[in-house]
Amino acid sequence: MLSDAMDFIEPPERSVMIGTGKGGVGKSTIAAHKAAWHAARGERTLLVCVTSQDDDDLGIERFNRGIHPEGPSVLNGQGLYRSVHDRVPLLPVREVRPNLDVVPGGEAVGELLTLLTARMAVEGVQVVQSLARALAPIARWYDQIVFDSAPEQDSLEQLTLAATRWLFVPTRSDDTSIRGMRRIARNFKLVRRQLNPALSVAGACLYGSNPNARQLHEEVRGDVFGVLGQHTPMLHTVVGYREMPAVNARKKGLTFGEYAALLPTSAKSYDVAAGRATRADVVPESIAPLAAEMDRLNAEIDAHCRKASLS
Ligand SMILES: Nc1ncnc2c1ncn2[C@@H]1O[C@H](COP(=O)(O)OP(=O)(O)OP(=O)(O)O)[C@@H](O)[C@H]1O
Ligand SMILES: [Mg+2]
Repeated sequence: MLSDAMDFIEPPERSVMIGTGKGGVGKSTIAAHKAAWHAARGERTLLVCVTSQDDDDLGIERFNRGIHPEGPSVLNGQGLYRSVHDRVPLLPVREVRPNLDVVPGGEAVGELLTLLTARMAVEGVQVVQSLARALAPIARWYDQIVFDSAPEQDSLEQLTLAATRWLFVPTRSDDTSIRGMRRIARNFKLVRRQLNPALSVAGACLYGSNPNARQLHEEVRGDVFGVLGQHTPMLHTVVGYREMPAVNARKKGLTFGEYAALLPTSAKSYDVAAGRATRADVVPESIAPLAAEMDRLNAEIDAHCRKASLS
C-alpha cells in the first residue's frame, strides 16, 4: 500500500498494537486482557479491534455488554468501517467494563481493503492514515489505547501501525509463527519510515507455551532477536497453553480474571455425573494460573512501555 512520502500524524502517547503476521497466536486474547487490565486500574481505556473476525472476548455482542451508540449498529466492524468510509471519528461502545470502551471488529473491517484500495488510486499513501485520522479526535479522552490486529493482511497491519506508538509482538514457538513476525517487521519498517516515525517496538513474548521449557524459550528468544532486532525487549512472562479455560472464558465473554473469580461457585464433576449440573457449569481449576500469568504479562508489558517512554 505504501509508495510516496507524506505528512505525519502523531500517534497517542500511550497506544499499543498487539500484532504479528501469523494467525492464532493469541493477539486478540492479549489485546482484550491488556485493555481490561488498564481499565481495572482506573485508566480510561479504548480497545480498537482492527480485525475481520470478532472474537467478542468481552461479551459485547453475545451478552450485550456496554452502552451502544445511538443510530446504526457498530457491531461486526461496521462502526470502524463507517468511520473510515465517512471520514468521521470512531464511535466506541462505551463502558463495556468500568473505564473500558471498545470499537468492535468483525466482517466489515475486511471490507476496508476494497475501500482503501479504491481510495489509494486518488489519494495516494495517505489512505494508510485513515484509522489514525478517525482516532485522533477521540484519542485525548483515553489514558490507554490498545489495538487488536488482523494476521496475514498487510494493508490492515499498516493501517494499525500508522495509528499506534508501540507495537507488542506475541509469538508461539513454531516456525510459521516466527515467519509471521517477519511480515510485521517488514510493515513496521515501511510505516515507520514513511508515516509514523514515533513507532517503536514495546517488546515481544512467547505465548501459549510451557512456562518451564527454558531451552525452547532461549531458541525463540534468538529467533525474535534475529527478526525484530537485538535490542527487542523479550519479556520473561510466558503464558502457558491452557486451552480449556481460555476457550471457555471467551465463550462466556469473561476475562480470565473474571472467570477465575467464579471458581468458588463452580459445579463439581460429581454434580455433572449426578445430572445436577452440566460441564459448562464446571470452572476449570487451571483458570487460576492462566489468569495470574496474564496479569503478570500485562504488568510486564506496561513496565517496559513506561521505561521505554522515559528513555
Ligand atoms: N493461553 C492459552 N492457551 C490455550 N489457548 C488459548 C490461550 N489463549 C488463547 N487461546 C485460544 O487460542 C485461540 C487463538 O487465540 P486468539 O484468537 O487470541 O489468537 P489471534 O492471534 O487473535 O488469532 P487470529 O489471528 O485468528 O486473530 C482462541 O481459541 C483462544 O481462545
Ligand atoms: Mg485475533
